[in-house]
Amino acid sequence: MKNILEVSNLCVAFRHGKQVHQALADVSFAVKPGSTVGFIGPNGAGKTTTLHVLLGFMAPDSGSATLFGQDVQSAVARNRIGYLSENPESYKFMTGKEYLTLTARLFGIKGKEQQVRVADLLEEVELTDHANKKIGTYSRGMLQRIGLAQALINDPDLLILDEPTNGLDPIGRMKIRQLIEQLKEQGKTIFFSSHELSEIETVCDEIIMIARGKIIKHDTVDHLLNGHQNLEQYFLNAIQSH
Ligand SMILES: Nc1ncnc2c1ncn2[C@@H]1O[C@H](COP(=O)(O)OP(=O)(O)OP(=O)(O)O)[C@@H](O)[C@H]1O
Ligand SMILES: [Mg+2]
Repeated sequence: MKNILEVSNLCVAFRHGKQVHQALADVSFAVKPGSTVGFIGPNGAGKTTTLHVLLGFMAPDSGSATLFGQDVQSAVARNRIGYLSENPESYKFMTGKEYLTLTARLFGIKGKEQQVRVADLLEEVELTDHANKKIGTYSRGMLQRIGLAQALINDPDLLILDEPTNGLDPIGRMKIRQLIEQLKEQGKTIFFSSHELSEIETVCDEIIMIARGKIIKHDTVDHLLNGHQNLEQYFLNAIQSH
């Protein structure tokens, strides 16, 4: 398989009364297996909308999206992905362990395998000591980590993460970054949006930049940084000239 993820000519418009806002205007790109790709762009650029189309939450007005070469609406495509949303809304009345157990059951993971998987993931995201506490009592960083653990429950080949380090303190960000690096070493494909450009620069192989619903750049980090101090400087120049 050439591309693990592909979007072609995506157009999405939101209507507010008589006003039409073109959130995505002919968005096309592809992600290769095993790569870690950062999806960046200003607030309102269309990142979450693109991810929602990719996850099959929303149908585009036109264009197509495939995962593993299959239409995003197909069950096969969905079983092999892990997703962390922009604002992880989990079941606050459940404990972290109960939530992961429920997610495992939804993927048909049962018995001993289920217990081992849940325990391992709690350990991996450093929540073992909080496993039996209600999610409603978790801090922002803990919520983000339990969200990441649920995204990993099915041992996905592709991870789609919407601002995984949003709102985290420097230590929380570092922990998520380390987890992303571990997943990358395991050969997973990771496609994630973020405003943390220094982090993107450290972790990603490639960057896709979107502004006002249009892809303005897709290149390797090495290429992009050529002649620029850092990604932030590149980003500011690129956005200003658009
Ligand atoms: N459900 C919706 N109804 C109406 N407009 C929407 C909806 N979702 C998104 N939009 C609009 O579409 C545009 C793109 O939004 P989107 O959430 O994709 O941006 P984003 O790049 O993820 O931004 P951020 O960095 O702030 O998360 C914005 O102008 C937003 O207001
Ligand atoms: Mg967003």
